[in-house]
Amino acid sequence: MYSREQLADIARATLRKNDRGGYTLPTAGLYPFQWNWDAGITALGWMSFDATRAWHEFDTLFSGQWGAEDLGGKNDGFLAQITFHKDSDSYFPGSDQWGTEALEVRTSSISQPPVHATMMRWMLERSATGPAQDLALERLAVLVPKLLAHHRWWYRCRDPQQTGLVVNVHPWETGMDNSPAWDAPLRAVPATARPYERKDLDHVDASMRPPKAFYDRMVYLMDFNRSVGFDPARMYAECPYRVNDIGIISILQRASRDLAHLCSVLGLNAPAQEMLMRVNRTQLAVQALWSDRWQQYVSRDTQTGALLDVPTSAGLLAAYAGFDRDCASTVAQWLTETPYGLPSTRMTFPRFEARRYWRGPIWQHINMLMAVGLADRGHAELAQRIRQHSRVLLEVAGFHEYYDPLTGDGLGGAEFSWTAATYLHWIYPEGQ
Ligand code: GLC
Repeated sequence: MYSREQLADIARATLRKNDRGGYTLPTAGLYPFQWNWDAGITALGWMSFDATRAWHEFDTLFSGQWGAEDLGGKNDGFLAQITFHKDSDSYFPGSDQWGTEALEVRTSSISQPPVHATMMRWMLERSATGPAQDLALERLAVLVPKLLAHHRWWYRCRDPQQTGLVVNVHPWETGMDNSPAWDAPLRAVPATARPYERKDLDHVDASMRPPKAFYDRMVYLMDFNRSVGFDPARMYAECPYRVNDIGIISILQRASRDLAHLCSVLGLNAPAQEMLMRVNRTQLAVQALWSDRWQQYVSRDTQTGALLDVPTSAGLLAAYAGFDRDCASTVAQWLTETPYGLPSTRMTFPRFEARRYWRGPIWQHINMLMAVGLADRGHAELAQRIRQHSRVLLEVAGFHEYYDPLTGDGLGGAEFSWTAATYLHWIYPEGQ
C-alpha cells in the first residue's frame, strides 16, 4: 500500500522512465513507440509537473500527421495509432509492416480515438495565469490548426455521407482492441494467409492477450489498407470491417465541442462554427445507437446495419460526450456489480472475462473520462465513487496497464504511462 505522496513520486518517475526525449512510451518492451491516445492522456500527467514537456508530447505526436502530399494524397490530417520515431524489434506489427515506408516519419495506417482537443482544453484550464497561460496560448496557436485538420479528416474520410456517425475500419482504431463488441463484425474478415510473428506473448501471459484467430484478422485488415493504396473512399466502400464505434463517436463528439472552444479562444470563429455543426449532426444521429436492453449506447455494424448489442464501457461515455441521455443510472448499476470499479465489459454479459484484454478488465483512463463527464453533468457523487475505486486500486496495485475488476490485481504491462498520468491529473490533486 503506497501513500499519496509516494504514489505521486512513482507516477512522475514512471513518466520520466518511459520518456524517449519528446515522446512517452506506454510501457517499455510491450509498446516501444508513441501511441496516439496514450500521448493525449499522458500529456495530462506531464502537465502536473512540467508544462513545457506536456505540450511537447503533442508536437512529437503531430510530427507524424499525414499531409496533403503523403501516400496517395487523400488523407490530409490523418493521425496514426502508432508513430514510429525510432525502430524497435520488440513489437509486431512494427514500422516495416504497414506499407508506409515513404513517409518521413513512419506510422501505422489506422487511427485511434481523438482525445487530444479535450486534453489540450484541460491543459489550458490548468494554466490559468502568467507564463503558463502564455505558453498554453502559444502552443495552441500551433496545434489547433493540426487538430482541425485531424477532425476534418475523421468527418471527411470516415463519414463521407455525412450521417453524423464516423466509421472505423480496424478494431485497433477503437483503442479497445479485443472488445467482445467486435466479435460479430470480425466474422466477415478473412484470416491472413501470410506468416507473421507476434511479439506480445514475449511480454505478457497468453491468458491476458487476444488469441491467434484474432491476430490473423488484424493482419488481414492492416494489409487491406495498403492493398487499396490507403484510399479512404475504397476503405469506406470495400473494407470487410466497418463499424460505428460508440467509443470513437463519443470521444470525437466531446473533442469537437472542446475544439470549438479552443478555436473561439484563438478568435477562429468560422472553424468553431464548423465543429459545432458537426456536433449537432452527431447529437441527433447517435439516437440510432441506443440499446433498450442495456440502457446505454452501443456500436453498430454498418455493413449489416445491426446494432452490436454488447454492454461495454465505451457506451457509457455518454455524459462525457454530452449526449442527451447521460447513462448515469446505468453507470450506478454497473458499480454495484464489480467491487473495484467499472469494467470494460459489463460483468453480467456472458462473454465477460475478468482478466483478458478489453473483455472485462478496468482501464483507468476510461474511468477518468467517464467520471469527469458525469461530474460535468451534475453527477458529482457518482463521479466521486468512480474516483474512489480508482484511488484504492492504484494505491494497492500501482500503475498497471489494466486491472481485474473482481480481484483488483494489476495486469498486462507494468509501469504504465497513462495510468500514472491518470493518477497525477485526476486522483492526486486535493479538493476535487
Ligand atoms: C493497447 C490498447 C490501446 C493502447 C495501446 C498502448 O493496444 O488496446 O488502447 O493505445 O495498447 O497502450
